[in-house]
This record gives sequence, C-alpha cells and structure tokens, in this order.
Amino acid sequence: MPLVAFSSPKGGVGRTTLAATVAVALRRLGWRVLAIDFDRQNALRLNFELADDLRGVAHDFEANRDWNEIAVETPAGVHLIPFGAVPAHDWLRLHGHLTQNPGWLRQRLAPLAEQRDLVVIADLPTSPSQLNVELDGYADVHVVPLLADAMSLAVLPRLQRGEYLLAGNTQPAPQVGYVINQVDPRRQLCRDVLALSRDVLGADLFGMVHLDEGVAEAAACQLTVLDYAPESAASYDIMAIAQRVHASLAPV
Ligand SMILES: Nc1ncnc2c1ncn2[C@@H]1O[C@H](COP(=O)(O)OP(=O)(O)O)[C@@H](O)[C@H]1O
Ligand SMILES: [Mg+2]
Repeated sequence: MPLVAFSSPKGGVGRTTLAATVAVALRRLGWRVLAIDFDRQNALRLNFELADDLRGVAHDFEANRDWNEIAVETPAGVHLIPFGAVPAHDWLRLHGHLTQNPGWLRQRLAPLAEQRDLVVIADLPTSPSQLNVELDGYADVHVVPLLADAMSLAVLPRLQRGEYLLAGNTQPAPQVGYVINQVDPRRQLCRDVLALSRDVLGADLFGMVHLDEGVAEAAACQLTVLDYAPESAASYDIMAIAQRVHASLAPV
C-alpha cells in the first residue's frame, strides 16, 4: 500500500483539489484508491458529491475502530474517509490523542498496508501538525503544491533542504514532488516562477497546473475537473502529474 501525502506549509495552494483529482486519475490508471481527509475543513468530500454528516477520522477515534467501516465509495470510484464535521475542540482532542499515543495513526493504516494494489492518498492540513510526526516518514511520496508566486520561490530552498518535513532519518527518504499550481501563462511573474522552479527543482518538479476556471467550477458542482471538464488544461496537467506519481509507485 503506497501512501501519497499532499502537504504544504501554506494553505490555499491546492492540496485538497490535487489530492482529490490525482485520486481520481490514479483510479483511472488502475489503482484501487482510498483518499483520507486529515484536515478539519473536511473539504475533500466536496469533490465527490458526498454529504457533510458522514462520520470520519475525527469521530470516535478513542474507540480504535477499523477505518474500513468509515470508508465510503464515491461515484468517481474512489473510496474516501472524510475527516468529519467536528468542532474545533475535537480537533485539539484528536491532536492530543496523537501526541499521547505514538503509532496510533500507523496502526489505523496497518490493515491497509497488505493490499498492494491499493494506494492511499492523504490530504493533510497546513504543516507542521502532529499528523506530520507520524505520516511524513511513513509516506512514500509527498506532493507539495506551491502557487506560482514570489513567496513560493523564497521558500523553495528551505523546502528542498527538508526543513518543512518531519521525516527524520527515515530510510529510504520519502520522495518529494513539487507542483506549481494556478499558473496563468499571460502573467510574466508566473512564467518566471515556472522557469526558475524548473531550473531549481529539475526532476523533483512533478508538473504544473494552469489557473483554470474549470477547477473552481468543478468544485462548485462537487466534482473533480477530470469529470467536470475532461478536455480542460487543468485536466491534462493533473493527469500528467498523476502519471508521475504512478511512475514513482510500485507497479499495480
Ligand atoms: N488550478 C486551479 N485553477 C483554479 N482554481 C484552483 C486551482 N487549484 C485550486 N484552485 C482553487 O483554489 C482554492 C484553494 O484550493 P484548495 O485545494 O482548497 O487548497 P488547500 O487544500 O491547499 O487549502 C479552491 O477554491 C480551489 O477550487
Ligand atoms: Mg485543503
């Protein structure tokens, strides 16, 4: 069971959008896919026409129940475990639980680890959080979306030095693939950021995604852009990124 984590030190960069869309793309590439929402915005479900009252990671976590019981099948063929709509207090309680029970998260994932044709997609909150302590070293691949702006360029060296990951000395070190998101080719700054990112990141740049109204419209229709606008620029971009993720995982 490979684990692909979507994380970044900054919010609003496209983690949830890319996690959902890459999940659908990997399904189409032959994987069975389980997408897990670890962010209290509980937004991953919004791409899959799912109700907001579903139980999820943040419900009854002290009961140590089997996560297979809370996974739901979405119309897109991806299985999903929502975070759950819970108040802020429960978020803190969950983090307290994670701190006091090291290994708890990995134990929840252990029954899935045997399934070689299953890929788990983790949509993580803005890092670092207690979730990163367990998942950063456990993930096979980290996909880190960045916006095509000057701030992203400024943080790139620190990202590359691994300062934002809590993977410790995990061997083998997880692979990190960057995505420059919301690229508007009409803007000089976007073109410059993309060109510089290509130079700096080389093969670690998994791809770029155009700023595409279809992405925002798809979310409004509770779909991923692959289903909403399959011929759009963003669909092609994200499919190509999914191919990179697919190539970095063990064969199905
Ligand atoms: N390539 C894109 N083109 C247009 N809108 C995008 C694109 N990527 C993300 N968005 C929009 O940007 C917003 C933030 O994305 P989201 O995936 O929620 O970020 P995060 O999970 O990192 O906080 C959402 O409204 C989403 O629809
Ligand atoms: Mg998100």
